Amino acid sequence: MRRFMLLLVAAAAVAGLTRATADVAQAASCPWMNAAQPPSVRAGELLAAMSLANKISMVTGGVRFRGENPNIGSPAYTAAIPSLCVPALVMNDGSNGIGDEQKLTTAFPDTISLAATWEPQLAQQYGQALGGEAFAKGVNVLLAPGVDIARNPLGGRNFEYLGEDPFLTGQLAAAMVGGIQSRDVISTVKHFALDDQETNRNTDSSDASERTMQEIDLPAFDVAAHAGAGAVMCAYNRINSVYACESPYTLEQVLDDQFAFTGFTMSDWHATHSTAPSADTGLDLEMPAGEKYYGAALQAAVTKGQVSEATLNGMVYRILCSMFRVGLFDHVPSEGQQAAATTATNAESIATATQIAENGTVLLKNANAVLPLGSAPGKRIAVFGPAAGGFGAALASQGYGSGHVPVLWYQPGIVPPFQAIAARAARAGDTATYSEGYNLQEASTQAAGASVAVVFVNDVETEGADRPSLEAKMGTCSFVLPFLMPNSCIYFGPNQNTLVSAVAAANPHTIVVVQSGDPIAMPWLEQVQGVVENWYPGQVDGNSIAPILFGDVDPSGKLPITFPGRLSEDSLQSAAQYPGVIEAGDSVGPHSLYSEELLVGYKWYDGEGIPPLFPFGFGLSYTTFGYSGLSVTSSGDGAVATFTLANTGSRPGADTAQVYVGMPASTGEPPRQLKGFSKLSLNPGQSQTVSIPLSATSFAHWETSSRQWVVSGGSYQIYVGDSSRDLPLQASLELPSSELGAGVY
Ligand code: BGC
Repeated sequence: MRRFMLLLVAAAAVAGLTRATADVAQAASCPWMNAAQPPSVRAGELLAAMSLANKISMVTGGVRFRGENPNIGSPAYTAAIPSLCVPALVMNDGSNGIGDEQKLTTAFPDTISLAATWEPQLAQQYGQALGGEAFAKGVNVLLAPGVDIARNPLGGRNFEYLGEDPFLTGQLAAAMVGGIQSRDVISTVKHFALDDQETNRNTDSSDASERTMQEIDLPAFDVAAHAGAGAVMCAYNRINSVYACESPYTLEQVLDDQFAFTGFTMSDWHATHSTAPSADTGLDLEMPAGEKYYGAALQAAVTKGQVSEATLNGMVYRILCSMFRVGLFDHVPSEGQQAAATTATNAESIATATQIAENGTVLLKNANAVLPLGSAPGKRIAVFGPAAGGFGAALASQGYGSGHVPVLWYQPGIVPPFQAIAARAARAGDTATYSEGYNLQEASTQAAGASVAVVFVNDVETEGADRPSLEAKMGTCSFVLPFLMPNSCIYFGPNQNTLVSAVAAANPHTIVVVQSGDPIAMPWLEQVQGVVENWYPGQVDGNSIAPILFGDVDPSGKLPITFPGRLSEDSLQSAAQYPGVIEAGDSVGPHSLYSEELLVGYKWYDGEGIPPLFPFGFGLSYTTFGYSGLSVTSSGDGAVATFTLANTGSRPGADTAQVYVGMPASTGEPPRQLKGFSKLSLNPGQSQTVSIPLSATSFAHWETSSRQWVVSGGSYQIYVGDSSRDLPLQASLELPSSELGAGVY
């Protein structure tokens, strides 16, 4: 097959069409272009042919966006070496679509929406779509997925991540990695590690115990590394006082030794802080530009013997191996104007985007079955909120920063919610009106005259700044005026809480659609009948919410992040925990103490016995489900939980069955931890036997003294249900003590 591909590319070379032409023409002088050889052999051969200058070029990023960059629109690259048939590494952000300055790509829903689907298969499909669009735009290294854990609901980048739970995050991230790399594009798992806040992100030290890191922050990286991720990006922050990009604990002990990671590491943009210490610790590639610590500085260090050539060889070898393994030498994308002009977005991507946005939408409240909107024609639907209109939708449908896809100017086809609702209403014989909601009196009058009112509430979030509070605020962030307001947001629009209250006072059938990447406070919750969390749906926007409102699609999303119970709980962490405090003798920056240890997200609410507003794993459906007959049996070195899930309502729908494990009290673990899940679609009256495997590590905790996963002998509780707080089935399992070693998460 690969030989066949080479022939095809060779044919193109004759026509003089692509950059691959030059490489293939030289393949005769590049023995490592023989795709039949294993990646390790090819990398070894190529490395042996490289000069010192070639090697330095491989570990040093190039300038951004234009200039020498072979690819218009991407933020950085490493240079090709045509004489050795080495293609450029062209990098682009891509958690939520192929963004940065790219045009004609799909603005997918933000990753938190994918997390809310709880569908690894869809994550794989999403990865394929991302990888395909990346390749079409000339990109062969995608800077995604982001797998940092949502430690705090104010985190500015939570929308780019996969929620608060390491198990859910790991499963979805691994599937995304597989999908991206199936398209000959390296997936970069980021930000390694404990990069959980934007406040002081370049200087803050995340101070956590080894057990906390191993059980909360690192597992998703482990699973993604084992899924074959080609690259890992080390983070801006410090970890226990050491910069993440030169941290011996995370880079050497964990990534290399424990995870046996076979890819390469790159720094986050300007996150390198040294030459020899970084190289010796295992930072393989300085990004974005090597004017500082790698490049000439590294070359000088090697020449002077401060960094050994063996170390440099190891760095280059890891990059080359990854490139060969993922297929970058054998499948070279187009570049320059040709890539820039390519339309990467396509019907399949948009279908995937729609599926993610729909399946990730979470129905939080549905009093008196206000949803779905009834099928009797003649309803008057009053829609409110800037986010539902054209310009507002372009601002409100994504988070900001490097994960933003520039939909406002460049991309085709954002579908504003009002447009989609009005079109669907017309088909149903209903009518729809729209008001942004600045004039409260006018909004009240419109609401009073309607059969049902739908208010869009938006929260604007960005890389580079945490949220000031849990209160939802409409606005826009740095990408509009990046030089005037870097890493910050401006807020405008009506006071959304006042708008909801005014509309709800005028119309008892009020539904709020929230578009956010994080939990928001809902002071009006008791005043409205319906609440739907639509996250940031990207360009499909209204096309993902209208079908839910009208019942064409059953809402099946489940929260990947806990919604705090009281507004004051945005300060549920002390200042020492977040945003951190200055420590005597440390002039670099503050320290954020992870003193909550394992009690992150729902584990904190469970551990403290505090009711959240909406718990992790929660989400309603238009139908109902019943759970029965749990049995748990040992299987291999783990177990399997078997039970029956039934659709007990009158409509088809999907539910995500969740399995939580409670470990013996002596382990000091949180009361319950997610260790398995499965989403099933069922027709009314249909039931299905579900078997969910639980690996040995489902029952293990990290023992710091012996640096490994251990199972304590005793009784383990297995809970099954469809949210972390609704677990009707329970069984127990006796397990003997055992030691599992370090590398088996
Ligand atoms: C972000 C990364 C991103 C990089 C390149 C950094 O500021 O932290 O997530 O991949 O920029 O745009």
